Amino acid sequence: MTFLYKADPVRGAEWAALFAEKAPDLPFRIWPDFGDPGRVRYLAAWLPPDDLERRFPNLELLFSVGAGIDQFDLGALPPDLPVVRMTEPGITAGMVEYVTMAVLGLHRDLPAYLDGQRRREWRPLRVQPAAKRRVGVLGLGRLARAVLDRLAAFGFPLAGWSRSRREIPGVACHAGPDELPAMLERSDILVCLLPLTDATRGILGAGLFSRLPQGAALVHVGRGPQLDHDALLAALDGGRLSAVWLDVTEPEPLPADHRLWSHPKVVLTPHIASMTQPETAVDLVLDAIRRHRAGEPLPGLVDRARGY
Ligand SMILES: NC(=O)c1ccc[n+]([C@@H]2O[C@H](COP(=O)([O-])OP(=O)(O)OC[C@H]3O[C@@H](n4cnc5c(N)ncnc54)[C@H](OP(=O)(O)O)[C@@H]3O)[C@@H](O)[C@H]2O)c1
Repeated sequence: MTFLYKADPVRGAEWAALFAEKAPDLPFRIWPDFGDPGRVRYLAAWLPPDDLERRFPNLELLFSVGAGIDQFDLGALPPDLPVVRMTEPGITAGMVEYVTMAVLGLHRDLPAYLDGQRRREWRPLRVQPAAKRRVGVLGLGRLARAVLDRLAAFGFPLAGWSRSRREIPGVACHAGPDELPAMLERSDILVCLLPLTDATRGILGAGLFSRLPQGAALVHVGRGPQLDHDALLAALDGGRLSAVWLDVTEPEPLPADHRLWSHPKVVLTPHIASMTQPETAVDLVLDAIRRHRAGEPLPGLVDRARGY
């Protein structure tokens, strides 16, 4: 049986070295060198090849090399093929670092100071205590919970929003569309950590912005299509939002003449909030294969009906 990798080839070479060390009995191949297609049992991909069922009739597990699976066309996959998303701890650690940086950066007015520096303007703003800066997180999943845990240490009043009801000590939890407005109304800094699904596409738009406190700030680390750029620019220009820290856009990269590149209230990074770390990813994948063989539950198994 073969493990096939189909994503960035440089990282694939790192996976190959780790497989050779940790699972020498499991042949590892990098797309398009898949060898005998009948032997391919496991596939780790960013974008799986078309016609998976016909190409690899004995495929048992499909791994996403990223935390999300929105890049997969779930309807085109064999209906019974288990799809496993990447839940390795390196992704979580990276996201905690990034969102902490962004929330602290917005809390301490970094976009205004970067703009002031460019203009050679020495303009101190009043420092707000963290206890008076309310942070709300859209999504209460694996990444959001780790982020909230770290943010708690600074003393920000915390809230979160999920699809199903969650309980997290120290976090005001809200569930479902009916409770979203209440959560938005108490979010001076809003963080989006939602997966991209039909229900979350375009969620960061004019309607949502209008529910936030005047001058609120946004950190967007979900997926680009969740954000309406025109509504965002209008909210920034009109003062409804004071600043935004963006890691994801649609498209990626943005066109060279897009206003978000140079807007003084925008910090923009190229979808780097967190990345799968080969070492821990290979450990996770090998553990999932072991569990699959033993008939045990798989961590990160995607619920296809839910879409994440
Ligand atoms: N920028 C980057 O570099 C980067 C890196 C990694 C991940 N990400 C993004 O982060 C996302 C979240 O990752 P994760 O591992 O934390 O996912 P997860 O564990 O599946 O958590 C998703 C959370 O979103 C909630 N949710 C989903 N649909 C919802 C809806 N319609 N209404 C309200 N809440 C909803 C879920 O609610 P329930 O709790 O009720 O299920 C859950 O709390 C990924 O899908 C990916 O898009 C970005």
